[in-house]
Amino acid sequence: MHDRSRPPWWLDEVAHAGAEHLDEKYVAGYERKAAYDPSEDVAALRASGIGGDSTIVDLGAGTGVFAMAMAPHCRRLVVVDVSPAMVDVLRAKADAAGADHIEVVRMGYLDRDLDAVIEPGSVDAVFSRNALHQVPDFWKVVALVRIARLLRPGGILRLRDLTYEMEPATVEEEIEAWIAGALVDDPRLGYTAAELAEHVRLEHSTFTWLLEPMIERCGFEILDRDVRRSAYVTYTCRVAGRESS
Ligand SMILES: C[S@@+](CC[C@H](N)C(=O)[O-])C[C@H]1O[C@@H](n2cnc3c(N)ncnc32)[C@H](O)[C@@H]1O
Repeated sequence: MHDRSRPPWWLDEVAHAGAEHLDEKYVAGYERKAAYDPSEDVAALRASGIGGDSTIVDLGAGTGVFAMAMAPHCRRLVVVDVSPAMVDVLRAKADAAGADHIEVVRMGYLDRDLDAVIEPGSVDAVFSRNALHQVPDFWKVVALVRIARLLRPGGILRLRDLTYEMEPATVEEEIEAWIAGALVDDPRLGYTAAELAEHVRLEHSTFTWLLEPMIERCGFEILDRDVRRSAYVTYTCRVAGRESS
């Protein structure tokens, strides 16, 4: 008998989490490297009607830069990450903030047991940044369906990820140009050309023209899309066919 919550065909999410995200030293330098300003995401969610009464889930939350910025603007915040090293940082930040409406969960976003922590249909908004590309497209679909189920009718998904806005006929040139456009040479300060090349080689970023039908097929309406430098994509989506309540 196998475990129903993890059948034999299920993905090993820790093995796909990115070895660097499990490495305490890398995690310690992560925020400096990522240089992520969450204010645009907080503002976009607030403009979508997410506020003081809302329940928000951050999937693949990393060190919680978004979560800590969003925390003052919601009633319940569940931050989920599969990496023990990331979760240690998240717990330390939540404790330091003394914010008992923040729940830190060490789990994969595909984990069926997540339903026991977050009741399906109870979530106003799901946020996820640069975490979905860790898994192949089959699993992106599984994740998107599970996100749609977590959300209440009219709930919002704000999804950011490295996703290629490139044409098939010119994809090789466009990837070369993207890598050549790396903004730093020092890996402590950002992502170098070598790291972008590794991303293409080893990770599961897909094309926008594949991801968008997947998002829609999984039950979302794409309300807004923003693409920068051919690879940095942000979608604001709503569970389709259901108006905000
Ligand atoms: C590039 S970091 C992004 C962190 C954060 N969202 C940010 O934007 O700074 C990717 C994060 O996703 C987490 N992750 C990868 N696969 C995951 C999975 N299957 N379930 C939950 N978290 C995952 C990693 O541990 C890591 O913290």
